[in-house]
Amino acid sequence: MIIKKLIYVRKSQFSKWLLSRIFKKRVGTAMQTMLQTLSANHMLPKNLIALELFGFIGTNATMDYAHLADYIEMWEIDPFFAKEAQKYIPKARVICGDSIKAISNGGLLRKDYNFIVIDPNVFMHNYVSFESFGIFGHALKYVAKDTVIFVNIFNNVEEYIKKYGANERIEDWIKARKEFFAIDNVVSARGIDYLKGFEKIIKAEKLDIVYSNFISRNEYVGFGVFVLKKC
Ligand SMILES: C[S@@+](CC[C@H](N)C(=O)[O-])C[C@H]1O[C@@H](n2cnc3c(N)ncnc32)[C@H](O)[C@@H]1O
Repeated sequence: MIIKKLIYVRKSQFSKWLLSRIFKKRVGTAMQTMLQTLSANHMLPKNLIALELFGFIGTNATMDYAHLADYIEMWEIDPFFAKEAQKYIPKARVICGDSIKAISNGGLLRKDYNFIVIDPNVFMHNYVSFESFGIFGHALKYVAKDTVIFVNIFNNVEEYIKKYGANERIEDWIKARKEFFAIDNVVSARGIDYLKGFEKIIKAEKLDIVYSNFISRNEYVGFGVFVLKKC
């Protein structure tokens, strides 16, 4: 199991390194593109106080914004991944623990994050909800006056199943998506159609949405990006 994880971790690190060599200073990932776009539109806070709730080893998201951050609090439940993350992103404060519990019970270290990344798996062990549905609302209690949120959105369930295969929880997942997004097509709708589900929760928290968009990361998942203002 450890060998399998080690190979997985090294593979992620190698492909990230390779990408950075190929693209050099040019934009590579969806997050990098979006960060440049937000910055060009003066919507990116200057010094990021970042909260990343599902960190892995930082290769898919954290690395893209770490250089812009004054503070990074990264949660990762798997001790092996957490240790790698700390080595890989030394400036991060990596906490090996359950971020779902922490965000629900007031266990996070601060209350003023201006940059929040929510990038969970679809199905989580011991987790009664799916994707970010059960925690997105909680995250809004920890925002600064001006905050950017990146949350993953599975925009194409068919493509996801093609890649990872079906399992016995797919039906429940689709049902949860119908409730959360309140749209007819929760299998392969347009990326932007999924934003409304999050926007409804943001509005209920009385936060202003300065900007929102969907940016694709691959054929089945992207980021919903929200620029928020607390009045
Ligand atoms: C999709 S990956 C995140 C990718 C990450 N954003 C990156 O930059 O590479 C999800 C990660 O969340 C971790 N995880 C799952 N449940 C968790 C929980 N309750 N608290 C903290 N981390 C969790 C998993 O171990 C996995 O590494």
